[in-house]
Amino acid sequence: MTTYTLRSANPAKTRCDAVVVGVVQTAKGPEIADGGGDVAAAYGRKLRPLLSSLGVTGKTGELLKVPTSGALSTPLLVLVGLGKKPDASAVRRAAGVASRAVTNAASVALALPADSPDLVRAVTEGHLLGGYTYTAYKKDSGPKRPGEVVVLSSVARRKETVAAFEEAQLVARAVATTRDWVNTPPGDLTPPAFADAVVAATKELTKGRGAPKVAIKVYDEVQLAELGCGGILGVGAGSSAPPRLVELTYAPKDAKVHLALVGKGITFDSGGLTIKPAQSMNEMKSDMAGAAAVVQATFVIASLGLPIKVSTFAPMAENMVSGSATRPGDVLSMYGGTTVEISNTDAEGRLVLGDALVRATEQKPDVILDVATLTGHMVVALGDRVSGVMGSPEVVDDVLAAAAVAGEEMWPMPIPEAMTDRIHSSKIADLSQHDWVRWGGGLFAAAFLREFTAGLPWAHLDIAGPSFNSGAAWGHTTSGGTGVAVGTLVDYARKLAES
Ligand code: BES
Ligand code: MN
Ligand code: ZN
Repeated sequence: MTTYTLRSANPAKTRCDAVVVGVVQTAKGPEIADGGGDVAAAYGRKLRPLLSSLGVTGKTGELLKVPTSGALSTPLLVLVGLGKKPDASAVRRAAGVASRAVTNAASVALALPADSPDLVRAVTEGHLLGGYTYTAYKKDSGPKRPGEVVVLSSVARRKETVAAFEEAQLVARAVATTRDWVNTPPGDLTPPAFADAVVAATKELTKGRGAPKVAIKVYDEVQLAELGCGGILGVGAGSSAPPRLVELTYAPKDAKVHLALVGKGITFDSGGLTIKPAQSMNEMKSDMAGAAAVVQATFVIASLGLPIKVSTFAPMAENMVSGSATRPGDVLSMYGGTTVEISNTDAEGRLVLGDALVRATEQKPDVILDVATLTGHMVVALGDRVSGVMGSPEVVDDVLAAAAVAGEEMWPMPIPEAMTDRIHSSKIADLSQHDWVRWGGGLFAAAFLREFTAGLPWAHLDIAGPSFNSGAAWGHTTSGGTGVAVGTLVDYARKLAES
């Protein structure tokens, strides 16, 4: 276990095995970033030629390790690139890069830009998340982690800084568990197993005096049938692992507003009878990333004791192929009675979300956010590092503002008027699930979800791209599940609590 401490010491005199300093890319060449001033001073005039012969530029992702040979009280200096704009996002990413680069040291000091609570948060979150590994199925438990990480900040003694430092650790832990759940092989994280994991995590969170209060209710397949959750049941019909609906409630006495969170929890998406090509199926264990994110965000909000009520809905199903699977042409009756004609069993997310959204509206929340790995269209439109946000314009704006604070890239997308006709084009049911028109498929999906929101303020976050990193680690984003949206949801809730 690595312990993190916050201190306002001089990085040149700190007794650690390694000290991490940022380098900014400027027109005049590389410059040591804020926080590393004492280190730069310790090298004095020798610094420029040293950076120059090392070939340091300060570009994003750059990392160099330099033996200090007595210039500092720390034997190893680690230089990490911050790019041209050393803002909180750049600092978060650089701390992540540094985290993976220094593993074999007992203690590490981080002397990155950290003269505000936001920057301290970025350094702490970035370092914790960049060092994330998933080794549950390996004999080798991966690289060693330092025993102690010291976050250096000139404002370390301020109350707000200490709070930001503590909160960063809460958020990072929640993101790490989200990653764990996404990375778990789908055969071991079936809907019942996922629901059990959420129950266990809720118990852990709420045990002991003074612990946060979160209530949980799990609906099994029999109870889902009684409720009439035809979407969740229809999607889960082809799997031998039955579906679940998990509902969490955090209702502090001083709650001023009520937020509902809904997350897509498809534990594996084969596409169903409209089966996916082999390549597209590979990473479909990640199709429950939205559910994992809303659950973990709820835990953080409760741990922070924010004065808002949160009702969270995580519909869980496995989209499989069998004799009992839902067919194209079938009509499902959703929770609340709306009927949907199925034409593509691979458009399953909107079906489980439809049931859960209606359940959410029954609680009469002030605002609803749903998070889902919903469409490949969004990945085509925005790439794999940017989430699309659609819905009520004011809510979308607030989500984008929260994402900017959390350091997650999100972008607004429209729900064009023409989508309303397209989702109402079924000849035999209230709604068409899908119409085989490729254009704007991600926006069609959002228009479909909107039908289940009862006109309440709402935003839909399509995280299909950013939820899973198929490539190598970059910044604080490691390979596999990323835990995207947890940070944005928490910052959205923080802002809501202030309003
Ligand atoms: N889970 C997928 C979306 C997805 C794609 C997530 C790529 C992560 C990466 C979703 O259920 C799906 O299959 N969507 C279809 C929608 C289509 C049938 C309207 C898609 O994207 O092709
Ligand atoms: Mn699908
Ligand atoms: Zn899916």
